[in-house]
Amino acid sequence: MNRLSVLFVGIFTSFLIGWIAMVRVPLGQIGRLQPDVNEETGDIFPPTPSGLAIAGEKVYAANGCVYCHTQIVRPEEEGSDIARKWGDRRTVARDYIRQTITFPGTQRIGPDLTNVGVRYNDAKWQHQHLYNPRSINAWSRMPSFDYLYVTRKIVGQKSDEALDLKGEFAPPAGYEVVPTTEARELVAYLLSLNRNYPLKEAPLPEK
Ligand code: HEC
Repeated sequence: MNRLSVLFVGIFTSFLIGWIAMVRVPLGQIGRLQPDVNEETGDIFPPTPSGLAIAGEKVYAANGCVYCHTQIVRPEEEGSDIARKWGDRRTVARDYIRQTITFPGTQRIGPDLTNVGVRYNDAKWQHQHLYNPRSINAWSRMPSFDYLYVTRKIVGQKSDEALDLKGEFAPPAGYEVVPTTEARELVAYLLSLNRNYPLKEAPLPEK
């Protein structure tokens, strides 16, 4: 073999080893995970999200929420996520199988959102927080996503969906702030974030 082919075989082998270790082995270990069926109750976990919640994954991705929020609860011995009440148990690979895009994330400028649907299960709260986080927490550093909402003139009766904004955040008299379809999808997604269900490999702690 001349020296050039040794070089090519060397490069090919390094990529092959990398591919086996990073793609093939993990695919064999966790690539074909199925939902967990609880034999006693018949419940299936993780539950199937609604169509609106699945659409919301794209809105979450498009708005860069992942730059500031993780969706991964570390095991008790590896961090304080459970002590901070971000989840009752650690997250495992099976928790993500229903999602078309996953957002484990790397930065925690804001709290972990793995179970945010449990902490805030009220759509109105989620909408108001997205519209302007400072209308809820004056100290919040989270950007406002008010472009996902429209301010429109009230015709007849005020909409059921209108945000309950007060003081400096309130729209002018006779106007209301309502969510766009994207905001509705995003909030359906946030409300669906609940991984406090038991799995074989990650049971819930006894209370
Ligand atoms: C620049 C960083 C940043 C970005 C981008 C960001 N957030 Fe936040 N988020 C924060 C911070 C900081 C907090 C804590 C303060 C607060 O509650 O407003 C927070 C809090 C939250 C909370 C309340 C969580 C809790 O447990 O109190 C939710 C829900 C949330 N963000 C959703 C989102 C969504 C959805 C997006 C994308 C549309 C997003 N965030 C984008 C920084 C960010």
